[in-house]
Amino acid sequence: MNVLGLWDGHDAGAALLVDGRVRCAVNEERFTRRKLEVQFPSQSIATCLAMAGLEPRHVDIVAASTSDPAKTLGRWWPASRERHYAVRRRKVRPGVLATLTRVAKYRITEWPPGRLSGALSRIALRRELARHGLAHAALQLVDHHQAHAAGAAWASGFDACAVLTIDGLGDGLSTTISAFRNGTIERVTASPARSSLGVFFEHVTSLLNMRELEDEGKVMALADYAAPIPDSENPLLALVEVRDGVIWTARPGHALKRTLAAIQWQYANEQFAYLAQRVVERVTCALARDAVKLTGLPQLALSGGVVSNVKATRHVRLLREIDDVYVFPHMGDGGLPIGAATLAAAAVGPVQLDLSDLALGPAYDDDAIRAALQRAGLEATRTTELSARVADLLESGRIVLWFQGGMEYGPRALGHRSVLARPDLVGVRDRLNLVLKRRVWYQPFCPSMLESEGPRLLADWTGSRNRDMTMAYEVLPNHRERLAGVISVDGTCRPQFVADAERSDFAALLHQARRRWGVGVVLNTSMNIHGEPLVCSPDEALDVFRRSGADALAIGSYYIERAGCAPALAIAHGTTHS
Ligand SMILES: [Fe+2]
Repeated sequence: MNVLGLWDGHDAGAALLVDGRVRCAVNEERFTRRKLEVQFPSQSIATCLAMAGLEPRHVDIVAASTSDPAKTLGRWWPASRERHYAVRRRKVRPGVLATLTRVAKYRITEWPPGRLSGALSRIALRRELARHGLAHAALQLVDHHQAHAAGAAWASGFDACAVLTIDGLGDGLSTTISAFRNGTIERVTASPARSSLGVFFEHVTSLLNMRELEDEGKVMALADYAAPIPDSENPLLALVEVRDGVIWTARPGHALKRTLAAIQWQYANEQFAYLAQRVVERVTCALARDAVKLTGLPQLALSGGVVSNVKATRHVRLLREIDDVYVFPHMGDGGLPIGAATLAAAAVGPVQLDLSDLALGPAYDDDAIRAALQRAGLEATRTTELSARVADLLESGRIVLWFQGGMEYGPRALGHRSVLARPDLVGVRDRLNLVLKRRVWYQPFCPSMLESEGPRLLADWTGSRNRDMTMAYEVLPNHRERLAGVISVDGTCRPQFVADAERSDFAALLHQARRRWGVGVVLNTSMNIHGEPLVCSPDEALDVFRRSGADALAIGSYYIERAGCAPALAIAHGTTHS
């Protein structure tokens, strides 16, 4: 049974489940090279089928998510989708009717799906599927939040759990609480799209002159730099409340933005970010508590764009009422294809959604890499001791591009398309920012660490169900200097955990790290030039190496060093001296 999951909106993509197991999952941005692509995921579909060795005629079911009027309108009028994408990414000026358009857009996106929008979405999707040789496949429309929930529930590993989804909006809703038992999901309650924590944070992001649906993580990071304001003096907390698992706001939709703007003038940017971040943390925790109470299930699975907020998920993890929490690693809309495919597959047979390895995209063997090197005119050295060679380079303060195995699914680089550096050298971190990443100064880099380092380095270690940078942890004060390049100013970090016994070059590198600089930790950030999607192919990796100031590239069994580029570094914990 071959089930293809599709999402053709913000961060479009596809996922293929073969006999209830995920075979491939990718997002269209990696192929079109436009971040958070909104076009129909043609290349994602082709990639999924090619990776599984299937033809379109082998697909039995296509499961596509979301059929509300706004989504349906975008399917029939792709130019409107494109226009909205350009405005949101600040590629074009909003125009004279901007406010009117925004208000109308928010109103339309709040409408729930109906018979007409469902029928029209089916016609539009069928037309696209026919173009891709998929006219024969059964088409199922899957509810937006049900797709978010299914991915989290089945991937969680819990036999039974409460499931909480929180996002901007989709199919007329902004949150849902469900009970997952015996392979079925039953919805308990939901919040209407007009009352949305995701839209609240989108407005805050936009008011801080950042890109909504893209820069929310920057708002969270900026909040760390505010002098804390007591909750009793936070005017934003009154704007979004939770009552019995449902969000309630007196100023819904676009009107909320005007209310926020009327408050914003009193505060510096970092203070406003702090106030908003507290709302996200408080509301997420209140929903999590209600999810457990309403379902009677003490384990919790989370999904939806808002739970990309790693500080909020940390607070949820530390709630006394909750035994264990799992965050779906591709929590935003880009993760809908797996969820939609899971629900469709579960209706016809058993599903085992194992996401312990997120290398669900294309992989390239050494022949393909050698061909790419030849095309680029680059000479590389082949080695059987890649991890030791890269550890040498990192130890001396070099920045290394690391390209190994299948491309990661989701927003984080997890040791397949990564940029690596030592975690303790603030100077190297700053150079990395200068030559490659160009992140804003307040946005920290993240660590990858051996699982066994968790209890040793982290004050609030609670086990490693969440391995993929989905939660913040507090670093013990006596270890902060060793992790100076990968922690926030408040002493927290967002780690990836790698099993000590994993037989991969990346795990071997982390063992080398422990021997050389005392902690099995490296700085790990995504391999891309600022503003571009994560690289997918060897050609793109070589292009990033050529355009960036990285010192070396480890690609497959090959490595290349940039001659005479890196400064010789005298190493001291926390600082570098060139
Ligand atoms: Fe969503």
